[in-house]
Amino acid sequence: MKALVVYDSVSATKMTEKVARAIAGAMKDQGTDVDCLFYKDVSAASVKDYDCLVVGSPTMAWKPTKDIMQFLNGLSAGSSGKLAAAFDTQIQMRISGNATKAIEAKLAELGFRLISPPLVAYVEGKTESLPDEGRRAGQGEGLGDSFGARSFEDRLAIINHFLRSPSV
Ligand SMILES: Cc1cc2nc3c(=O)[nH]c(=O)nc-3n(C[C@H](O)[C@H](O)[C@H](O)COP(=O)(O)O)c2cc1C
Repeated sequence: MKALVVYDSVSATKMTEKVARAIAGAMKDQGTDVDCLFYKDVSAASVKDYDCLVVGSPTMAWKPTKDIMQFLNGLSAGSSGKLAAAFDTQIQMRISGNATKAIEAKLAELGFRLISPPLVAYVEGKTESLPDEGRRAGQGEGLGDSFGARSFEDRLAIINHFLRSPSV
C-alpha cells in the first residue's frame, strides 16, 4: 500500500503543508509507505502509482484553491477502487466554508473511494468577522486546539485502519 499526500499551501506560514506533513508522518508511523508532496511536484501520470491519495488545501473564500482543483482536474478518471481522503485548514468560525467538499466531490467523480470523513485542521484566528482582506489578519498564528483534538486523531486512525486492512 503506497499513499500520496498532496497539498496546496499559499501563506508564508504554510499551515496546510504542516498539516500534510503531520498526516503523512502519522501514516508513516503506522507503517504506510507515504510520499508527501506539494501539488506542483506531482505529475498527473505518477498518481496512478499510488493506492491512496490524500488531498489537502487551505480554505480560501470558502473553497479549495484554484490550483489544487486544477491539479485534480488534470487527473484522469479510472481510479476505481483506489482510496482517498481530503483535508483542509480553515479558521474556526460559523462562516468558514470548507475546501474538502469540492475536493471530495472531485475525488469521487474520478472514481476514488473516500475512506474517511474530511480532516479539518483549524488555525487560530484573531479576527471575529473576516470580510475580504480582513481574513489575512487571522491566519498563520499556529494550529489551534482542534488540530490535536480527538476527532482529528480519530480520522487519522480511520485512514490508517483502511490502509492496513488486507481487504483493500
Ligand atoms: C485570501 C484568503 C482567503 C481566506 N478565506 C478563508 C475562508 O473562506 N474560510 C476560512 O476558514 N479561512 C480562510 N482563510 C484562512 C486560511 O484558510 C488559513 O489561513 C489557512 O490555514 C492558510 O493555509 P496555508 O498556510 O497553507 O496557505 C483565508 C485566507 C486568505 C489569505
